[in-house]
Amino acid sequence: MTETKANAPVGVFDSGLGGLTVVREIMRQLPEEDIVYFGDTARVPYGSKSKDTIIYFSRQIVHFLRTKDVKAIVVACNTASALALEEIKDEIDLPMIGVVKPGALAAAKATQTGKVGVIGTQATVSSGIYAKVLSEIDPKITVTGKACPLFVPMVEEQMMDHPVMMEMIDYYLSSLRQSEVDALVLGCTHYPLLRKQIHQYLGESITLVNPAYETAMGLKELLEEQGLRNTQKKQAAADLYVSDLPDRFKEFANSILPLDIDRVKMVNVEQY
Ligand code: DGL
Repeated sequence: MTETKANAPVGVFDSGLGGLTVVREIMRQLPEEDIVYFGDTARVPYGSKSKDTIIYFSRQIVHFLRTKDVKAIVVACNTASALALEEIKDEIDLPMIGVVKPGALAAAKATQTGKVGVIGTQATVSSGIYAKVLSEIDPKITVTGKACPLFVPMVEEQMMDHPVMMEMIDYYLSSLRQSEVDALVLGCTHYPLLRKQIHQYLGESITLVNPAYETAMGLKELLEEQGLRNTQKKQAAADLYVSDLPDRFKEFANSILPLDIDRVKMVNVEQY
């Protein structure tokens, strides 16, 4: 790989703003990598949509990111990683990584009982992808999946500390309290922002697995393997794009990223 290619940005996408939790982790672990992020705020949520629609949306975003000359693509969305990654990665000549495999690997390492819980959107849980990947890693591991669709709008509304949030956590997760699950995958981009509340509810004996952390480590390995690590010592840049109004997104980005975001640009992703 040429020096120029290694200095190119990493493309990251999600159905909306939740994927910024993955960007935050990439910035922590790979501070010299520039990022081009696309959040599909016009078409979120993906979690209630069909596989064909999720593939169609993801393909358009990948085509858009290619126009930004990215050197690799991170599918930061669990739903798109579960339903579209396998389909799309053979269509392009760029390395691509999703959040499911890294999350599953971390869960397999964390569990002692061999009983893993996975929470995510309806599409991710129904796909059975975590159970499939975990059984490839260790056939003795069993998976209990639970879709928690209302967590996403609660986080989007920044209602993590509202009393209704704890009621919702009880509604979705009470069965896990009685189970032998000792590792729980936060299988949706928004859920790491509920880490504190979920921990408080389930207690310290369950390890919460945040695929964002493992994905950033996986990206580092992938870039190293392919000779694509950016070697320039500099303040990395983040170029953010959305498909609908940028203001709330910009506010959220500034609340969780370690650098100032002056501008979020809006693009019509339908044309890609
Ligand atoms: N980004 C999605 C995920 O990680 C959550 C939001 C949505 O349903 O699109 O699964």
